[in-house]
Amino acid sequence: MQILRCPAQLQLLEETLRKSLPTTLPVLGTVMTVARGNPAAHEVLVDSWPNFRIVLTRLCPEEHRDHKDHYTNQLAVFYQDKGALRALLGGTEAVDRARAFQLLGMQEGLDEAVRDVAGARGLQVKTTRYLALMSPEPPQPRGQVPPGLRLAPVSPSHIPLLNATWVLGGNTRSQAFLLGLVRMLPSICLLGPRGRPVSWSLLDAQGCLRHGYTVPAWRGHGLTGITLATLGQQLHARGFPIYCAVLPHNKASLRALGAIGFLVQPGTFYMIVGTPK
Ligand SMILES: CC(C)(COP(=O)(O)OP(=O)(O)OC[C@H]1O[C@@H](n2cnc3c(N)ncnc32)[C@H](O)[C@@H]1OP(=O)(O)O)[C@@H](O)C(=O)NCCC(=O)NCCS
Repeated sequence: MQILRCPAQLQLLEETLRKSLPTTLPVLGTVMTVARGNPAAHEVLVDSWPNFRIVLTRLCPEEHRDHKDHYTNQLAVFYQDKGALRALLGGTEAVDRARAFQLLGMQEGLDEAVRDVAGARGLQVKTTRYLALMSPEPPQPRGQVPPGLRLAPVSPSHIPLLNATWVLGGNTRSQAFLLGLVRMLPSICLLGPRGRPVSWSLLDAQGCLRHGYTVPAWRGHGLTGITLATLGQQLHARGFPIYCAVLPHNKASLRALGAIGFLVQPGTFYMIVGTPK
């Protein structure tokens, strides 16, 4: 595998990946984030260039200091054929027996292939299947910011609240991950009268809108649509695809997203988490 660092190569890769949307969403979002200042310290690998068969994006290995942390060690993959995926998984660029990871991709067969290799290498593997949603136009909120609330970036002081309410979080590693996101990437929240966030949305290194949350007392007022639309409009201005991944049974989230212009995409958005036993 070779690492692409040259802006012209990343630009060409970006244009190629755009032709295979939505399947390329997590890879395209990471390539664009890397090409625009690389705030999250990821890298882009291909098997050959310019005629690649597989693209892997990942956190730069030297940044993965806690090898049991699967939150920060995010990878995304897109391949033209399964032989290229098998060749990648035969090496240790993606799945290494000593490192926890979180692999994102949207192709059928990815789950089984990663599961087989990671299982054989002694890792515990868990797959979550999401729906991918994209907003073809800049999302438009249903209403205005209610009186008494105001928009602001998420601050590091809000992270304990975000971590405590995150269904996949609540531990020191997830807290450090969230802190990294708000320090490195755009985020937005609605602050209540006491300066405490009541609704928020974050962006991750894959350019994916994540961690949408509204505190129970404020649900049903269209607040998540306001934070999502604010970040979505920023993404649109920078030429990024506007997307997120939602559990199929999360009807509240699907309704909130549908109301501001997001459309469910075909296929499955896989999140495969591997952790050393
Ligand atoms: C999903 C979530 C972010 C929506 O936030 P919100 O600001 O309430 O969004 P909306 O006001 O647009 O409401 C969306 C839907 O929630 C449901 N809802 C409305 N009032 C509600 C209430 N009091 N309590 C729970 N759900 C309610 C309705 O289905 C509503 O759709 P509708 O307006 O078409 O009837 C919020 O429910 C939440 O934080 N859930 C837990 C975390 C989560 O699932 N995050 C999304 C991860 S992808």
